[in-house]
Amino acid sequence: MSVGVCYFPEHWPRQRWERDVEQMAEAGLKYVRLAEFSWGRLEPEREQFDFEWLDEAIELIGDHGMEVILCTPTATPPKWLVDERPEILQKDPDGTVREFGSRRHYCFNSPAYREETERIVTRMAERYADNPYVAGWQTDNEYGCHETVRCYCDDCSNAFSEWLADSHDDVETLNEAWGTTFWSQQYPDFEAVEPPGPTPAEHHPSRLLAYYRFASDSVVEYNRLQTEILREVNDDWVVTHNFMGHFDTLDAYDVSKDLDLVSWDSYPTGFVQDRRESEATVEELLAGDPDQVGLNHDIYRGALDRPFWVMEQQPGDVNWPPHAPQPADGAMRLWAHHAVAHGGDAVLYFRWRRCRQGQEQYHAGLRKQDGSPDRGYADASNAAEELFDLDPVDAPVALLHSYENLWATNIQPHAPDFDYWTHAGTYYRALRRRGVQVDVVPPERDLDEYAAVVGPALYLLDNALAARLEAYVEDGGQLLIGARSGEKDTYNKLPDTLQPGPLTDLVCATVAQHESLPEQVPTRVSYDGEEYEYRTWAEWLDPDDATVRGRYAAGQGDGQPAVVDAERGRGRVTYCGVWPGRNLADELAGNLLDRAGVTTHAPLPDGVRVAERDGHVWVTNFTASPVSVDAPADAAWIIGNETVEAYDVGVLEGTLEDVAVTRT
Ligand code: GAL
Ligand code: ZN
Repeated sequence: MSVGVCYFPEHWPRQRWERDVEQMAEAGLKYVRLAEFSWGRLEPEREQFDFEWLDEAIELIGDHGMEVILCTPTATPPKWLVDERPEILQKDPDGTVREFGSRRHYCFNSPAYREETERIVTRMAERYADNPYVAGWQTDNEYGCHETVRCYCDDCSNAFSEWLADSHDDVETLNEAWGTTFWSQQYPDFEAVEPPGPTPAEHHPSRLLAYYRFASDSVVEYNRLQTEILREVNDDWVVTHNFMGHFDTLDAYDVSKDLDLVSWDSYPTGFVQDRRESEATVEELLAGDPDQVGLNHDIYRGALDRPFWVMEQQPGDVNWPPHAPQPADGAMRLWAHHAVAHGGDAVLYFRWRRCRQGQEQYHAGLRKQDGSPDRGYADASNAAEELFDLDPVDAPVALLHSYENLWATNIQPHAPDFDYWTHAGTYYRALRRRGVQVDVVPPERDLDEYAAVVGPALYLLDNALAARLEAYVEDGGQLLIGARSGEKDTYNKLPDTLQPGPLTDLVCATVAQHESLPEQVPTRVSYDGEEYEYRTWAEWLDPDDATVRGRYAAGQGDGQPAVVDAERGRGRVTYCGVWPGRNLADELAGNLLDRAGVTTHAPLPDGVRVAERDGHVWVTNFTASPVSVDAPADAAWIIGNETVEAYDVGVLEGTLEDVAVTRT
């Protein structure tokens, strides 16, 4: 397990590089990521390449015993290129051009940009083909950041029509599959289907979903263009891409199929401010929410079912969230250990030095702009010293997560606060409160190895997926299915059977009614004799062979079944028709894990989490109060001891069964 950093030698005078690189080596760093925005320096004019500075930087880093992750610089096409070929620029839905002057201004479907990409990537790859210090490559940087997956230019319009033609026999099939008779939306041919521009009322949900799929596929294709060039030049390179946290518009599972390693960029105190529903607590502002970060770790671990990297780890205060409190003492070290506990193999801090120029001046580095240590420096070097090698995580539970279900529920949420991430996050948090490791995987994944599976909002469902889930349960699997499952077919239309559609046989119940409820309506439900709160979404279930486990205890549905379960073959399936509050989610998850025979911890306090990996247990404390760990007297502590202080971590040899963590 190693620590690294992202470095921009091109931002600093040559005479500072030696000192910078020496200090990186002193800090125990192993990897240095370079060049992701450097096209303007590498090719200041067309075909006038200047690689010497990068050669030198790589050499210096290699001489100091570290390895380089090189990046293709395609996130920032330089000005001369944009001026020569302005057609590469993206367009907003209303036709406004996304101009030069920031980054990510290119269109994934632009044939001109694909040509330019091929040129620069080939050139760079060939330059470093035999360089012993280059361990691998990152393609581009954060595909889709700044809402750039979906573009509305002419190239996208043409590519969309072609994509539709490839996926349907003829336009009649498309009209039928989408249901374009509604509001006279029939299309005469594929060319007539354009990217969804501004309209008086909402768009047809099938067209929107198709466009979202197409846009994501366009990134997959563009990325593949890069990975194929890199692989052809040197097959030993590890090829990765750095994804983002809670990112909506790109199917990371699809992109990952073309990668050797999945990495992502983790900014815990930013995420609690800008991509979570509930307001951040003071502790979260200082260290983030371990489940919010953990869910992303587990998505990117799940993507290839192998260890991931954190390619950018928050180093201190950052520029983009609304506020930038200094993270808690030790938080930058805690995050590195937390990533490793979740199956990370390397953590690279973003970035080495606070930069004196450009858009990100209010963003920390491990060193300040004068070269002195910034807040995260000691944390990063402590982590570098403490991390040790481990086998991958072996998770007993899978949580099914799908970008298509996210897109489709976003298109018709049917309640202002129905949010796919938050709903799935309710179940994820309940599982993590019990200390179990969770593989977050797409529904197509082979589920045999999991003792238990949770599928929140399996919204778009076809017979094939239903059959696989059925087989899983028949074979002894324990399944928990959440509300809004089987609501739509894969074109985002209601099927001609009642919800849960193809899952009806498995669940042994149908949904008689559903309602979405604002805050002022009482939302109480019973489950196994206790009353709980739910929120936003309620389905009144009509059980066939299923056993009723919970009923509405208020409102119009009072007395109607809300949670049912059924035995099937050697397994059991529970269907929960509400968006459970946290206590109900805890109960549902606890019961599921118990009947699956999974070892669990008693529900942990917020911000305190345990995780097991390769015969070790991590206790991570994202709060301001210490916790104590009851472990066998002869337990071998690798890091820390029975008292895990504020924003600190303890690691001991053992398994989940060996520890009991309580707030002191
Ligand atoms: C990431 C991005 C970096 C930098 C960083 C700032 O999203 O990849 O280039 O902008 O955020 O936190
Ligand atoms: Zn475009």
